[in-house]
Amino acid sequence: MQKKIGILLLSWVLIACDTNKNNVEPSPILVEVPSYFPYPQALKDNIPNKNQIDLGKKLFFDPALSSNDAVSCASCHKPSKSFSDQSPVSLGVNQLAGVRNAMPLFNLAWQTDFFWDGGAKSLELQSLGPITAHNEMNMDLAKLPAKLKALPDYNALFYKAFGKDTIITQYITTALAQFERTLVSGDSKYDQYLIKQLVLSNEELQGEKVFKQKCQQCHSGVLFTDLQYHNNGLDNQFPDLDGNMDDPKLGRARISLSQNDIGKYKTPTLRNLSFTAPYMHDGRLATIDEVLDHYQNGIISSATLSPFLQASFSITEEEKASIKLFLQTLNDTTFVRNNQ
Ligand code: HEC
Ligand code: HEC
Repeated sequence: MQKKIGILLLSWVLIACDTNKNNVEPSPILVEVPSYFPYPQALKDNIPNKNQIDLGKKLFFDPALSSNDAVSCASCHKPSKSFSDQSPVSLGVNQLAGVRNAMPLFNLAWQTDFFWDGGAKSLELQSLGPITAHNEMNMDLAKLPAKLKALPDYNALFYKAFGKDTIITQYITTALAQFERTLVSGDSKYDQYLIKQLVLSNEELQGEKVFKQKCQQCHSGVLFTDLQYHNNGLDNQFPDLDGNMDDPKLGRARISLSQNDIGKYKTPTLRNLSFTAPYMHDGRLATIDEVLDHYQNGIISSATLSPFLQASFSITEEEKASIKLFLQTLNDTTFVRNNQ
């Protein structure tokens, strides 16, 4: 849609130099970013390249990346669900269940660490997790390049994207990340309100006001996340830090090894919630009403509970209804439709 949207201009010179060196036609692409979003450093550092993005998209949807040719990235990150999954925990190869809820994938260019506990420090590194995990794609990384080489199309597509007559893991992860960074969602009703294309109703504006008082502390800014780790009161029983360090129930402490991070998870975005149920890191809450009930009277106290959500935190029935109305303005149906 035509609108006042800032276009992020990327370094054309750099692209031309880089690709000419490898005998490939330069194929820069402009990624559209709403003008009031923060500057996405990741897009500057990883210059979007059309051929790499096209290849990344094909790889994202290709079950050949899994050991039994049955699971693609899109099996768990469904475009119709804003690239999330309707199952609380997703099923990978041989129907083996994971332990966490598949996160929606958009606005990833603004993130620096990935997963609910921030265990991956870049998008490129992130994809190695699902490709190799036995309960996700279960693929032997050493065999993947040869497997793709033997399939039609890929040799030519990798050559076009990287200018070398070879397929290596780094090209696979680079292409996937290139595609993922193009998934920008910023065309909700609330965005249109921000650029003064429409007005919100008084009820929605009241919802925005309550949201700012009760939720914005963590779900902040235009991304609706501070990208930090908090304990929002779901549990008070946690594994021991000196036990199995790989226990996902440690939350952020699995990565930071700090007692202070037990039970903390990355604040999720609140954009596109109508597409991304169920909610929370393990998908335990099925609806927005259940989420609001949690914040109203389900918060459980523990050593790492956010100071903001202690006993003094309260929400009335009226405020709950207001917040719900506001959250509905954050759905970007254009993003979901365009990516189906
Ligand atoms: C079997 C289901 C499954 C498959 C297949 C899968 N994912 Fe995921 N994905 C998940 C789950 C579950 C999480 C959250 C895991 C966690 O935090 O421990 C996740 C998290 C992510 C994240 C982190 C997002 C964020 O905001 O931090 C990215 C990016 C991602 N996946 C991309 C991919 C890509 C690319 C592929 C294909 C190579 C892929 N996924 C395949 C289930 C899956
Ligand atoms: C102290 C920080 C903090 C505050 C305040 C807070 N949240 Fe959260 N919120 C989180 C964290 C962290 C999670 C993820 C927790 C988890 O899965 O373990 C979360 C999860 C959610 C989810 C689930 C999203 C998903 O994709 O699974 C929704 C919806 C949500 N919060 C809405 C709200 C609303 C509405 C308010 C205000 C009433 C609010 N939050 C206040 C930190 C906060």
